[in-house]
Amino acid sequence: MSVKKAAAVTVGSLAAGIGYASLIERNAFVLREATMPVLAPGSSPLRVLHLSDLHMRPNQRRKQAWLRDLARLEPDLVVNTGDNLAHPKAVPAVVQSLSELLSAPGLFVFGSNDYFAPRLKNPLNYITKPDHRTHGQPLPWQDLRAAFTERGWLDMTHLRRDIEVAGLHISVAGVDDPHLKRDRYDTIAGSANAAANLTLGITHSPEPRVLDRFAADGYQLVLAGHTHGGQLCLPFYGALVTNCDLDRSRAKGASKWGSHMQLHVSAGIGTSPYAPARFCCRPEATLLTLVAAPTGGGHAGTRAGQSSPSVSAR
Ligand SMILES: [Fe+2]
Repeated sequence: MSVKKAAAVTVGSLAAGIGYASLIERNAFVLREATMPVLAPGSSPLRVLHLSDLHMRPNQRRKQAWLRDLARLEPDLVVNTGDNLAHPKAVPAVVQSLSELLSAPGLFVFGSNDYFAPRLKNPLNYITKPDHRTHGQPLPWQDLRAAFTERGWLDMTHLRRDIEVAGLHISVAGVDDPHLKRDRYDTIAGSANAAANLTLGITHSPEPRVLDRFAADGYQLVLAGHTHGGQLCLPFYGALVTNCDLDRSRAKGASKWGSHMQLHVSAGIGTSPYAPARFCCRPEATLLTLVAAPTGGGHAGTRAGQSSPSVSAR
């Protein structure tokens, strides 16, 4: 093959890849399902819909319709780990898309893309300076918070609360976004309620310093978003970056953290409007079926060998 022809093939392949990532995979929404053995022995299963990183703009009709359809799952609990907005006028689109789900019990924390609009950044920063942050104009997170809380969802930002869901006692705590360094874990510090069926931590960014604190306090499960699963991944390699200090292997899905805690990271549903592409990392919501941990090995930090979560997608 001549150099000219090789160059043409390379450019053509690159263009096809960019087209696929920005036009097809970015909109190939998928529901991932996973079973996680994190409840106290004897607890009945709990179905949790984990949503994250909607990055909504008012005109994203396909994403909005897909979100509305998730209501058919009738989850026991919805957990939203932030980054809902990508436009100052997107609050109505988020609220309407989640309208039916807002009737279910819900918990949320906010992320950087609830507080500040995205800005155009040097794309090389994605690889070379993943911690690089520049903030856009303030977003109407107060309006979104009011809409969520009016419907009964709990803002878990720096809050500890014991709630009853589907007959189970859940002890939950959350922090403000560690990516913006707004986390003040000391405000919620203390041993998790070991008498609960589930002890649950919520954070937008799965920063290890926060995960370590939740684990030290005895939480069984932490839900987070922010990573977008790496967003641009390589086949057989996975995420290149997590946009935080979390290791690549945990960029999305379930993993074990320390001796007893499980972490679930959502790959998220949207992207920044300035990086509108996904590759080998479909936009997702996750239906988590939480089940009782095996007797003698699964709850309140007593486990020796922990059952692995199982995963499927459809
Ligand atoms: Fe995000």
